[in-house]
Amino acid sequence: MKLLLDTADVGRIAQLMPFMPIDGVTTNPTILSKESDDPKATIDELKKLMNGKMIHAQTTAYDSHGMFEQAKTLTEYIGSNFYIKIPMTMQGLAAIEKCKAEGLNVTVTAIFTPMQALLAAKLGADFVAPYVDRLDNITSDGASVVGEIVNILENYCYDTEVLAASFKNVQQVYNVASVGTHAVTVNADLCQKLIFHPFTDKSIEDFDFDWRVKYGDKQITDFFKK
Ligand code: E4P
Repeated sequence: MKLLLDTADVGRIAQLMPFMPIDGVTTNPTILSKESDDPKATIDELKKLMNGKMIHAQTTAYDSHGMFEQAKTLTEYIGSNFYIKIPMTMQGLAAIEKCKAEGLNVTVTAIFTPMQALLAAKLGADFVAPYVDRLDNITSDGASVVGEIVNILENYCYDTEVLAASFKNVQQVYNVASVGTHAVTVNADLCQKLIFHPFTDKSIEDFDFDWRVKYGDKQITDFFKK
């Protein structure tokens, strides 16, 4: 399963990159607008941090021609591992087709139903991004929708991958992993929470305590030195 960061907070990304197995970053207009006054400067920073890993950024145009032109401009600037996020609208559908004909990478975003995902896959989308927490918040079941999308794409042998998005807690990430999502994108705080368990910390503390009681400051490899 691919793990992406759903943030443009370069400070937090830089903190996490050396430790977490991050495959890329996703942004949207909200995320970029919160980060700085200059989205190009933010994207420059993301490019440096990602060093060739995936970057996803969304179109701001309303019509398919505008979306396609923006996709070309951003792909040319960011590079071959850039994915243009195209919203699931009628204009978006036309834009997906144009982008794929041109060989551009496409993530179709704001997916809330399996039928939307199926249409995007039929047009050749590389990723579809269902919004798990936003589904949960309308008394739907985000993880079940993700599972249905995974199954439908498999039934028709589409190469499109499911990039589950919009998470507020670890349980939601676990639920979509259980139904076979191909990728998730999570914010920085949630990414850090993925490894947390109090018994993990306690177990490691106990090992350390027992070792030090017996051997003091010696490291295990000290006993192997000649
Ligand atoms: C992904 O494509 C979306 O940009 C994002 O995950 C939405 O997340 P939110 O519901 O936390 O805003």
